[in-house]
Amino acid sequence: MKVINSVAEMQQFAREHRGEIALVPTMGYLHEGHASLMVEARKRARIVVASIFVNPTQFGVNEDLDSYPRDLERDTRVASEAGVDIIFAPTAAEMYPSGYQTYVNVEELTTHLCGASRPGHFRGVTTVVSKLFNIVMPRVAIFGKKDFQQLAVIKRMAKDLNMDVEIVGMPIVREHDGLALSSRNVRLDTTQRRSALSLSRSLRVAKEALRGGEQSVAALKKAVAEVIEAEPMAEIDYLEFRDPDTLLELEQADERTLLALAVRIGSVRLIDNCILGEE
Ligand code: PAF
Repeated sequence: MKVINSVAEMQQFAREHRGEIALVPTMGYLHEGHASLMVEARKRARIVVASIFVNPTQFGVNEDLDSYPRDLERDTRVASEAGVDIIFAPTAAEMYPSGYQTYVNVEELTTHLCGASRPGHFRGVTTVVSKLFNIVMPRVAIFGKKDFQQLAVIKRMAKDLNMDVEIVGMPIVREHDGLALSSRNVRLDTTQRRSALSLSRSLRVAKEALRGGEQSVAALKKAVAEVIEAEPMAEIDYLEFRDPDTLLELEQADERTLLALAVRIGSVRLIDNCILGEE
């Protein structure tokens, strides 16, 4: 496995292998969720590139850019074991050199959920993902469904801008007790980790309630909020039942409905989601 830091070198390689590359964009501190994306990428293309770049433009001023966990040495090991051929790990100055002033913005879809609580976040995501697509020139790019809205926004961007990249979403990977894998989990202490289990527990409660015939979003919201609020450390940022395509609000839920959560446990903001009718 090779590590490339320079945009020019990555782009030169991509030019020579156009049509053969699957890209897994990441911000590093890789876990089994990322590894599952890399394994899928391995099945879909001859060459797998994983990018590792903690993208400053998707963090707000009071967010966790500085404390975001980083460990390139460990990441190299995880990526290599998952079958990655090339790690593209540019510096911030390489991606955003002095004088940089171009951004990509998906308008409507980014006004909801994480877009409402993190203004400017998706503008940073779509900008960096567009740049990665131009640098790595992948035929296919793989993203996790834990960031459900991010996946929807990137699909919209690729469609709207006629990007010649297939966007693939992969299922959330969870710990044995249900906690969705996230690079931020490392910042939870033992008590906070226990509180964090309320997220996945609340998703199960919503699924069971729907299965039991409850379709009122107001009633489902109340049931989900009760599970999370029973944890003194947990503070709900949002708890929404939405149409999975438009992300618009619903009054009645069904099996296709998206339940999306963002919850603060101490200083760590966690997200999780499910489609109510899926296992
Ligand atoms: O999901 C992530 O890790 C990031 O948002 C992404 C897609 C790599 C863009 O920085």
